[in-house]
Amino acid sequence: MTIAGSVLDLMCDTPLVALKGREVHARRGHLWGKLELAMPGQMKDRVARRVIRDAEASGALRPGGVVVESSSGTMAEGLARVGAVLGYRVIIVSDPRIDAGLRAKLSAFGASLEIVESPAAEGGWQRRRCERLGEMLQRFPGAFWPRQYDNRLFQTVYEEELATELTAVGEIAAFVASVGSGSSICGTAHALRRLSPGVRIVAVDATGSVQFHQPDRPRRQSGHGNSIVAGNIDYAAIDEVHWVNDGEAFNACHELARREGIFAGGSSGAAYLVASWLASACQPGANVVALFPDRGDRYAGTIYDRAYLDAHGLSGVVAASAPARIRYGIDEATSWSWAPLPHDGSVPCYAPGTLTSHRLLSELGLA
Ligand SMILES: Cc1ncc(COP(=O)(O)O)c(C=O)c1O
Repeated sequence: MTIAGSVLDLMCDTPLVALKGREVHARRGHLWGKLELAMPGQMKDRVARRVIRDAEASGALRPGGVVVESSSGTMAEGLARVGAVLGYRVIIVSDPRIDAGLRAKLSAFGASLEIVESPAAEGGWQRRRCERLGEMLQRFPGAFWPRQYDNRLFQTVYEEELATELTAVGEIAAFVASVGSGSSICGTAHALRRLSPGVRIVAVDATGSVQFHQPDRPRRQSGHGNSIVAGNIDYAAIDEVHWVNDGEAFNACHELARREGIFAGGSSGAAYLVASWLASACQPGANVVALFPDRGDRYAGTIYDRAYLDAHGLSGVVAASAPARIRYGIDEATSWSWAPLPHDGSVPCYAPGTLTSHRLLSELGLA
């Protein structure tokens, strides 16, 4: 039994669990799930704890001070939880897509929520949220803004903590993680290249997300996938990318629940799909690890709601047993597909003209 000084002490050392993999696959390697969802909250707890501790140490955050961040998901929850324990006022800027469960948690932790009303023509909700964040920084001089999209400390947390925890199973042949800000996959990758030199770093993105040179399309997957490119995506750290559509990701969550007894969010389902295939195609006995960021409770009314899936044509969209190989930056991915990243510079990693977090913040005078 663990006896902890506070909930902050529980934000590390999450379990690694052996998985069977999808029914369609005969497994050759060992397939593991890294249960970041077994944190007090979820994967961003450990980064929230570290970034706030670091800001305290540097003097960027004074006792009883204000923390402001733009988020509609796990980062908001992590900051609110850590802020509650350490006595900070946390203000989260979000948009109407924020789910009721997260609203309830933020309110329970005593965080304030600023909701922007409408998306901007370019940069959509992200631009409006950053504008409001700028207003908050003016209204609360001295407020601390973690900058989850561009602050390299976010990668460092995974590099220093998560990667070491993963190597408890030995050499890792492939590490599979969904990409939102890029911090978890890229930070972990940097350390795994040293700790497990032959590792293959496999990114998972949503179809219709711009992060890996695809056109921006409406999507229902959240957590991973983005309409802007975050500064924390270090493309050089990633070997290949898989794109998964909404139905495939959501139905993979159902398989994860049915086969493994793990009730998780869409980014875990998408990673499970890809990792299960890799574990069927790798050397016998090789270790393939998938990152599972959050639990499924927030998605009770979407991923796990039959009526929702039916209404959006997502019921029974079972992914193929293997992905299609497509040409990076040329073909559009509409269902499970993959491509190696073009490290020879033949194709840019994201499409020219794509809005980056750095450009957005520069335009708003926040860079
Ligand atoms: C549920 C979930 N999965 C995956 C991710 C992607 O993680 P990262 O931002 O480290 O790329 C996020 C990011 O917020 C998330 O909330």
